[in-house]
Amino acid sequence: MTLANPRTGQIRMSADTSAAKSGNPAVTLTDGATGKTFQLPVLKGTTGPDVVDIRKLYGESGYFTFDPGFTSTGACESKITYIDGDAGILLHRGYPIEQLAEKSDFMEVCYLLLHGELPTVSEKVEFEKNITYHTMVHEQLAAFYRGFRRDAHPMAIMCGVVGALSAFYHDSTDIEDPQQRMIASHRLIAKMPTIAAMAYKYSIGQPFMYPKNELSYAENFLYMTFGVPCEPWKPNPILSKAMDKIFILHADHEQNASTSTVRTAGSSGANPFACIAAGIASLWGPAHGGANEAVLKMLKEIGHKDRIPEFVKRAKDKNDSFRLMGFGHRVYKNYDPRAKVMQQTCYEVLDSLGIKNEPLLPIAMELERIALEDEYFVERKLYPNVDFYSGIILKAMNFPTSMFTALFALARTVGWISQWKEMIEDPTQKISRPRQLYTGYTGRDYVPVEARG
Ligand code: CMC
Repeated sequence: MTLANPRTGQIRMSADTSAAKSGNPAVTLTDGATGKTFQLPVLKGTTGPDVVDIRKLYGESGYFTFDPGFTSTGACESKITYIDGDAGILLHRGYPIEQLAEKSDFMEVCYLLLHGELPTVSEKVEFEKNITYHTMVHEQLAAFYRGFRRDAHPMAIMCGVVGALSAFYHDSTDIEDPQQRMIASHRLIAKMPTIAAMAYKYSIGQPFMYPKNELSYAENFLYMTFGVPCEPWKPNPILSKAMDKIFILHADHEQNASTSTVRTAGSSGANPFACIAAGIASLWGPAHGGANEAVLKMLKEIGHKDRIPEFVKRAKDKNDSFRLMGFGHRVYKNYDPRAKVMQQTCYEVLDSLGIKNEPLLPIAMELERIALEDEYFVERKLYPNVDFYSGIILKAMNFPTSMFTALFALARTVGWISQWKEMIEDPTQKISRPRQLYTGYTGRDYVPVEARG
């Protein structure tokens, strides 16, 4: 491979055959300007593309690499989640997402992500107990909510409240102590449903509901969200199962923007509550976790099947910033495996709720059909992603659109905290500090204000 550089000539990268023969694969970089060569080791994972180890590149050659958006950069070593975007494969600790969604439950998946293995019966009982007994939040934290406007977006509240947890749980902020790291992980997984449900209750002016220990994780969240103190609340097993499945499908997704944010924040030694608050902020954007909210808005705006071609045309127009929400993915260049499970869950939920005429479903299905046949989308390998159907399910379950991303944050917390823990426990971990290609002014002298034209 030859990389042309107008300023310094060319860098030639070639496979180092002698290094490969010795069992230590490497590539050789040749600087066209000076003729100097540099050997870069090639590291192999258990599966997936090999990576060129450039950690010593700058020190030895004086070059940085340039990769905005990190499209070709592996920023860490990880054993948690594997994605093959071309084949549409997603594995957690080696287990396919389809099997986990069908056969497992969210608590098991949390244990798996955190500890690396599925729990035994006794480990599962103990883990569920640990999570259950951490679901309440400090009473003073509840008072914190009253500082927000009632119409605040739940994600705005969650950024603030989750960040504030570090002010309440001082006994689990020492990141050097493995036990404190585990307690913080349990606390975050346990309290997130309470925090998200409270954000919702606050926005509609209803009293906060305390968690109930006899309920499962998903049931408890539905209870705290939709229950009221003056009436008994009974779980609907199909909806609880669907909620649990939605949590599983969102539990982790390798080094995406929010996870990388959590790792970057944590790389400086920041406490886990602050790091997860940073992840929530990153997730909020419409290109990431905010997409399911945007999908529903888009489907409502389309309004009728007849108007789909008009929106597809707009999505293809480079002068129009409109994109088909719920379509495309940085990594998946095939059908997102989570989207398939989500589509099935969508039918189950609508069926169980007796919703025969959900007006947005036919629009979504027709949009998917048209886009999957359209040359523009086919060429660019743009398929529906996890968010395409999740909004319809959540709407049917009665969640307001503004809660969609909050639900995503709730479910992703286990992924974030597992990745954070893995990073802290990695002896090679360093503070994240990317470099840049500077294109601004070089040094110039200060000009007093009266002398500036
Ligand atoms: N509608 C229309 N065109 C699209 C879309 C879309 N949804 N997504 C990508 N493209 C086009 C894009 O314009 C570009 O075309 P060209 O090569 O002619 O310039 C090409 O496809 C590649 O796009 P990209 O922006 O380079 O791809 P990316 O990997 O940087 O972006 C993405 C990935 C998810 C941000 C993007 O596909 C997108 O904005 N999708 C809509 C938002 C969405 O659904 N996000 C949820 C992602 S899944 C949940 C999560 O993990 O958070």
